Amino acid sequence: MGLLPFRRKGPLAKPSASISSVPTRRRSSLKNRTVLFSLMAALFLFATGCYKDGMSTWEAFGPVAQKQLDLFNVILWTMVVVFFLVEGVLVYAMIRYRRRPGQERPPQIHGNTTLEVVLTIIPTILVLALGIWSVFALFEIDKPPSDSPTPLQVNVTGHQWWFEFEYPDAGNGKKIITANEMRIPVDRPIQISLFSDDVIHSFWVPKLAGKLDMVPTHENKMWFQADSNKIDEDLPVTLFGQCAELCGLAHALMRFRVTVMEQADFDSWAAAYGPPPTVTDKAKKGAQVFATNCTLCHTVDGPDDPALSASRLKGFLTGGDITPVPAPNLTDLRTRQTLAAGMMELSETTLSAWLHDPAEIKPGNYMSEKAVLYQGGSVSLDEDEIDALIGYLLDLR
Ligand code: CUA
Repeated sequence: MGLLPFRRKGPLAKPSASISSVPTRRRSSLKNRTVLFSLMAALFLFATGCYKDGMSTWEAFGPVAQKQLDLFNVILWTMVVVFFLVEGVLVYAMIRYRRRPGQERPPQIHGNTTLEVVLTIIPTILVLALGIWSVFALFEIDKPPSDSPTPLQVNVTGHQWWFEFEYPDAGNGKKIITANEMRIPVDRPIQISLFSDDVIHSFWVPKLAGKLDMVPTHENKMWFQADSNKIDEDLPVTLFGQCAELCGLAHALMRFRVTVMEQADFDSWAAAYGPPPTVTDKAKKGAQVFATNCTLCHTVDGPDDPALSASRLKGFLTGGDITPVPAPNLTDLRTRQTLAAGMMELSETTLSAWLHDPAEIKPGNYMSEKAVLYQGGSVSLDEDEIDALIGYLLDLR
């Protein structure tokens, strides 16, 4: 009997259902289980469908993400083994030693010292080992290795609900400020300083590194690197990022992208960074529309004047219905892929829809709430003006 815990001895306890109903019930319970199992398998397959697309912590493109993934795997698989061992013993004991009809109450005992000591020591060793491993991993990813190339400094500021990227020196001393799309050279450490102009946000590009909060009045630092030997596609490659801290109405729409490029391509992007050209009459008209309607908050003239950004921030923080607010720098809008903080692809059509009714696309955004242009219920520009503005910003000729 010891080897066959499932064998039933003696009659079924109180058979109440009629004999003919038993097979039907069994069949329907088998059917229910099959349906449940299929549903779970489908759910699992559905979840694994997210594996490679977009934001995945299961695919590391650099040393920081790799180290974090390794640590995660060690902890995950150790715990999977522990889980199946413990649950296995539990389920076995429940079935093997279950109470059977007519059985006497078993003798009652009070614990087993040896077993209890062993069962305390094993988890303690496991938790200590994983804890020590984690601390070492934290120290290892704290700074780029000393033999790395010079890191590229990027200051990232979180705003409701978009990201600002500032390169104090993108090459040859050139300062660049851009928004929602970060370009980085491959195989070079990127040193990131995180700030916030309003509430707490969180900076997260899962394929490059774990999350780190962007806290008002406090600088947080992190670094990452994209390794060419970990990326099996041709460069440039675009990675997805997202704000990972609930920060208000449009939090879920606060996304960004990181484009990994060859150093030479990065250099030519940096060299080309500058105001949109005004070579056509339409572009000249667009520049005029921009200067009249948009410059309280936006700029197309390269890096912001610090005094101007400070006054926009003050306007934003002190409130009022119509005030200047910090807004994405549009100098290199024509080189970007997305619109409205990574929400949609950037094109003439999407930019036109955005300019016509930004609140429809991204509820809560400060442009539709604060800009004079939108105070009348709809945009106070005519179709020609909007068309010229788009042509100018995207350098369409
Ligand atoms: Cu910013 Cu969520």
